[in-house]
Amino acid sequence: MREVVIVGAAETKFGKSELSYRELAAQAGREAMADAGASPEQIEAFFLGTFSPGTFIRQEHAAPLIASELGLQNVPSTRTENACASGSTAFLNAIFAIAAGAADVVLVVGAEKMTATPTSEVTSILAEAADWEQESKVGLTFPGAYALMARAYFDRYGKTRDILDAVAIKNHRNAMGNPYAQFHKEIGPEDIARSAMVADPLTLYDCSPISDGAAALVLAAADVAGQFRRPGVRVLGFGQASDSLALHHHADLTTLPAARKAAERAYRMAGVSPEDISLAEVHDCFTIAEIIATEDLGFFKPGEGGDAAKAGATARDGRIPVNPSGGLKAKGHPVGATGVSQIAEATFQLRGEAGDRQVDGAELALTHNVGGSGATCVVTILGRPE
Ligand code: COA
Repeated sequence: MREVVIVGAAETKFGKSELSYRELAAQAGREAMADAGASPEQIEAFFLGTFSPGTFIRQEHAAPLIASELGLQNVPSTRTENACASGSTAFLNAIFAIAAGAADVVLVVGAEKMTATPTSEVTSILAEAADWEQESKVGLTFPGAYALMARAYFDRYGKTRDILDAVAIKNHRNAMGNPYAQFHKEIGPEDIARSAMVADPLTLYDCSPISDGAAALVLAAADVAGQFRRPGVRVLGFGQASDSLALHHHADLTTLPAARKAAERAYRMAGVSPEDISLAEVHDCFTIAEIIATEDLGFFKPGEGGDAAKAGATARDGRIPVNPSGGLKAKGHPVGATGVSQIAEATFQLRGEAGDRQVDGAELALTHNVGGSGATCVVTILGRPE
């Protein structure tokens, strides 16, 4: 495969934004091009990862909308939709375009505008990413689905909610060092104990929030990357896998088989193993999801991810730093933007430009992005510029 590098990255601040969908997406796209030192004329293809702008802001056909906002003239513009993994899927399609020789330089944007919609409606729109006919229609929401996973995990491994607390407290602490994060608020177990129950055992602090935001990347074939001003972060491996949308089809609620498969493919392609990874940005849409992710990715054995988080193994200075950005939990989760933002965060880390959230000596970063309750999983492995 043709080697692909990331030569530009940018994120907007996540949270409730005064900016519109198109302004957020365009801001991220412009800043990523500026970071690379790329002009709109150099972009040969555009991919937009976004989940549901048609329902959130009544705008479909969003890829050419954002392309023209960015001054990209006549480039092929394509939207990818894979629920909360829409952004990573856009990234993979950009790689495919470069690998196939169809383009040398590609812009990827991930964006979502969710906060203009009332919470109950957001919950219903998000539930359209699950199996509507068999589960969502009769009341299973995403907080409900992940609550079932947390219950199954507690039952199988004899754990209690202190393992969830450890993830929430760590990620809120990590987000303190991230200027793009939605929350800059440290929390302790007493805050969690006092917070509202959302879907037993998941409380407010176990949930990612409803967010606006965008992120963008400029990708280039390694053989043309010298024209850009930033050193290229190397795309070493990636994997994508799918599974049933319906949770009741999953034989085991304590693991996401598609995440395991995607990770296996990414590790094999990169020629590395879990022990080699310096840091990971994982899809902690709910605290239990981070624990399951760290097991599916091979950082810990099944049943040991929660205790590892409690022991500090996933802290920024721990054995395997997980979500030094604050993760979806505290950085925010504008769903279409999330996968792109994870890769932007990995890029900043590998360039040594992550400021207060920098992981010392970051050589290899892994990202793990999930759509639904494991129906789409994308894992990427990125390497420090040479
Ligand atoms: N974590 C921490 N604080 C949160 C929060 C979260 N997830 N969500 C909201 N807050 C804070 C707000 O900042 C606000 O604080 P303030 O009173 O100091 O201003 C307060 O809690 C109330 O916010 P509000 O927007 O009224 O909350 P809500 O009850 O409407 O929504 C949830 C809370 C948890 C229901 C909502 O964030 C949610 O649905 N999250 C899950 C999203 C999801 O499913 N994503 C897809 C995953 S697959």
